Amino acid sequence: MFLQLNHVGKTFLDKQKQTSYEVFSDLHLTIQENQFVSFLGPSGCGKSTLLSMIAGLEHTTKGAITLHDQMITKPSPDRGMVFQQPALFPWLDVKDNIMFPLKNKLPKEAAEKQADHFLKMVQLSKFKHHYIYELSGGMQQRVAIARALAMDPSVLLMDEPFGSLDEQTRYILQDKLLEIWQKTKKTILFVTHSIHEAVKLSDRIVVMGTRPGRIISDISINLPRPRKRDDQKVITLEKEIMSLLKIEINKVLKEELSNEVQPSN
Ligand SMILES: Nc1ncnc2c1ncn2[C@@H]1O[C@H](COP(=O)(O)OP(=O)(O)O)[C@@H](O)[C@H]1O
Ligand SMILES: [Mg+2]
Repeated sequence: MFLQLNHVGKTFLDKQKQTSYEVFSDLHLTIQENQFVSFLGPSGCGKSTLLSMIAGLEHTTKGAITLHDQMITKPSPDRGMVFQQPALFPWLDVKDNIMFPLKNKLPKEAAEKQADHFLKMVQLSKFKHHYIYELSGGMQQRVAIARALAMDPSVLLMDEPFGSLDEQTRYILQDKLLEIWQKTKKTILFVTHSIHEAVKLSDRIVVMGTRPGRIISDISINLPRPRKRDDQKVITLEKEIMSLLKIEINKVLKEELSNEVQPSN
């Protein structure tokens, strides 16, 4: 079994206030190797928490997560993470940012070769001696992707990686990511708020609901790539997902409104 979430639950405890919050209680999911899986769902349903648990940054409070039948208990280079804000080192140049995590893994020469290979893949070879502040947001995100890939993880975890980029850059990076995915055959778990982005990229979309967080739909997409925005099948699928999400979002709004204190006369 590649990646398995076995009836996974997560509860956050607030020791000071002596309260607890159960994000989800029973997520059950099997992910195949080389799959591109997207997660869509209203804010707060637990997408980031789930990715952090797979990364080993958050512990599981119920059930187990296994990769290659090994229980995940802590972070490992086998699981690379890319966040919405690329967490790069401002005092290092592009190449040294990519080299940094490789230093403990490979001899210097091999690390350099690996860094150069992935710099080329994200088309940043010319910028390898630039500092991070000299790059645009999209270029910084490409450095972060190259850095994660250079560790040769089995799984790439991406939490809204294009969320803070402008529409055009986002489009270009989506295509770039697909190209990289096809080349490297990585398994990608991708969180996004964009239904179109999920439909364009994924083999499979896991739609989540909230309060409690749970899987409300697990959709396989067999459409050939590249998938065009005006393709009828793409449009139909996007509408279907939109109506699933609308139900969830309306539920949250209703709850929030009913929790609001009514003004007294
Ligand atoms: N470290 C934490 N401590 C307490 N509650 C948390 C923590 N991290 C996330 N949560 C809560 O868990 C829920 C899910 O959060 P998150 O995984 O960030 O959702 P999403 O990424 O889907 O928007 C939210 O209600 C959030 O407030
Ligand atoms: Mg999140």
